[in-house]
Amino acid sequence: MSNKILTIALSKGRIFKETLPLLKAAGIEPIDDPETSRKLILDTNQDDVKLLIIRATDVPTYVQYGAADMGVTGKDVLMEHGGEGLYELLDLKIARCKLMVAGYADKPLDKGHIKVATKFVNCAKQYFAETGRQADIIKLYGSMELAPIVGLADCIVDVVDTGGTLKANGLVPLEHMHEISSRMVVNKASMKIKNAKIRVILNQIQTAIDKG
Ligand code: ATP
Ligand code: PRP
Repeated sequence: MSNKILTIALSKGRIFKETLPLLKAAGIEPIDDPETSRKLILDTNQDDVKLLIIRATDVPTYVQYGAADMGVTGKDVLMEHGGEGLYELLDLKIARCKLMVAGYADKPLDKGHIKVATKFVNCAKQYFAETGRQADIIKLYGSMELAPIVGLADCIVDVVDTGGTLKANGLVPLEHMHEISSRMVVNKASMKIKNAKIRVILNQIQTAIDKG
């Protein structure tokens, strides 16, 4: 991306609506209606600021390689990505949930090879290794709760908020792995090259977060 333009990667999922007021506090507003526009690059009221609309899981990759200068994504996504090439500079305190192991209360997860279904393959591998257990990780892309029901896995690693999805599928939260919220990440090179502009935006967003 051009040195004169600042690009911010956002995902159209659940984080999006909560991110817009924070951007507005930094004086940034999309011109097209993000709800209805099919554009993947949105112009904003600031000529030198553009928004990229991508999958939540792709945000760290765009920021890592400098295709976006900044981005907003969940801590779960960042932990899974590894955080290479980017700074995690703000906790936006939105989209709060917990990364958990979930399964059946009467099925202990302490013996033999545990089958774990998840889209958080790296997080799950690391967590089960750290807790001294052997785990076979089965990669899924969504609806993890189905896996234990149909015998694909003994448990899942997924984000939990109200616990409603687990309950509706006869599962319970078993182990708390990490508190999750959305973070603002910045490309390391952009932080040097576009420092002044980025600092102003970060300060304005931090002020808005502090006000609640
Ligand atoms: P992708 O679209 O890339 O597959 P996704 O479907 O997980 O990712 P979203 O559902 O928009 O994308 O979730 C974005 C982020 O919101 C997650 O990474 C997580 O940090 C947070 N999140 C996910 N589910 C919940 C939830 N039920 N309650 C609160 N926050 C959540
Ligand atoms: C997320 C997550 C759980 C659910 C947890 O799914 O994968 O299924 O939310 O929330 P709860 O504890 O409040 O029920 P989401 O709704 O984002 O669906 P998706 O993963 O298929 O996008």
